[in-house]
Amino acid sequence: MSDFVRPESMKRITTPELAQAFIDEEIAKARKQIGDKKVLLALSGGVDSSVVAALLIKAVGRQLVCVHVNHGLLRKGEPEQVIQVFRHEMNADLIYVDAVDRFLDKLADVTDPEQKRKIIGKEFIDVFAEEAGKLDGIHFLAQGTIYPDILESGGVKSHHNVGGLPEELHFELVEPLKLLFKDEVRMVGKTLGLPDAMVYRQPFPGPGLGVRCTGAITRDRLEAVRESDAILREEFAKNGLAGKVWQYFTVVPDFRSTGVKDGKRSWEWPVIIRAVNTIDAMTATVEDVPFALLQQITDRILKEVKGVNRVLYDLTPKPCGTIEWE
Ligand code: XMP
Repeated sequence: MSDFVRPESMKRITTPELAQAFIDEEIAKARKQIGDKKVLLALSGGVDSSVVAALLIKAVGRQLVCVHVNHGLLRKGEPEQVIQVFRHEMNADLIYVDAVDRFLDKLADVTDPEQKRKIIGKEFIDVFAEEAGKLDGIHFLAQGTIYPDILESGGVKSHHNVGGLPEELHFELVEPLKLLFKDEVRMVGKTLGLPDAMVYRQPFPGPGLGVRCTGAITRDRLEAVRESDAILREEFAKNGLAGKVWQYFTVVPDFRSTGVKDGKRSWEWPVIIRAVNTIDAMTATVEDVPFALLQQITDRILKEVKGVNRVLYDLTPKPCGTIEWE
């Protein structure tokens, strides 16, 4: 446990120079620990796993094997970005697993949010363990554990919030970020040359878009969540809100309402926009998005997203609403 206590003498990483010194030290440590063996990493594309990947690629190159599982609940463009950055730009040994059908089939007709979370978490571990089982000579498992994970959970970063790792993944751990706070991880990621879209991205829940497609997930409604989320992100970025608002996303609930389209009655879903600010996610306030921008986003969603005839803005602070809808 003593390994997991951040020494008081450890300087806060607030500059690229301090980040570079940390990187050099961790590269040396990782090379010493890993030697000529192989190390496996579940690379989601989130900040923590991306920074671990970039760091270990620098340290041991293709001795690092990254597995990116596409569970179908990622945001638009995310799997493509992971492949572009890590396989093409960083020359990583990256295994891309298209598990979309497998996840969506398991989730069909499941309406309870906690059950959905459990299925997504368990399936993720199963897919990852299956991929690990196909590989020879893996000795280490790298994880993007960061200091708050240790403070909150006693030291283990669970994948997508489901307990510990199964027997077949009991490798020796490599956790180079385990003493860092989030802002320090971002500084290290930026210094390692990761794109801003990866380093400064807003929090994204482990179960992904699955908890924003409320009730039983269907492929068409999930597509409406993904497309409307992409429009919202694009418009926030264009209008200078991307780095300013803490978390913003869309939800497509599992009910419809009447509308008119092209002179005909329609019976389609609403899209709900949520944009909140918070310090610690325990409480949150709603962003005061300019009305004209909300109208512009509404116009685009109504024109571009299939199956949608209404757009709403969620004005609920936390409490009493949670940030996510499920
Ligand atoms: P709530 O909805 O509880 O969310 O106000 C607080 C923060 O936690 C994120 N969140 C999750 N993150 N797995 C995660 O990794 C989850 O199951 C999960 N549920 C909520 C949420 O996006 C917000 O940032």
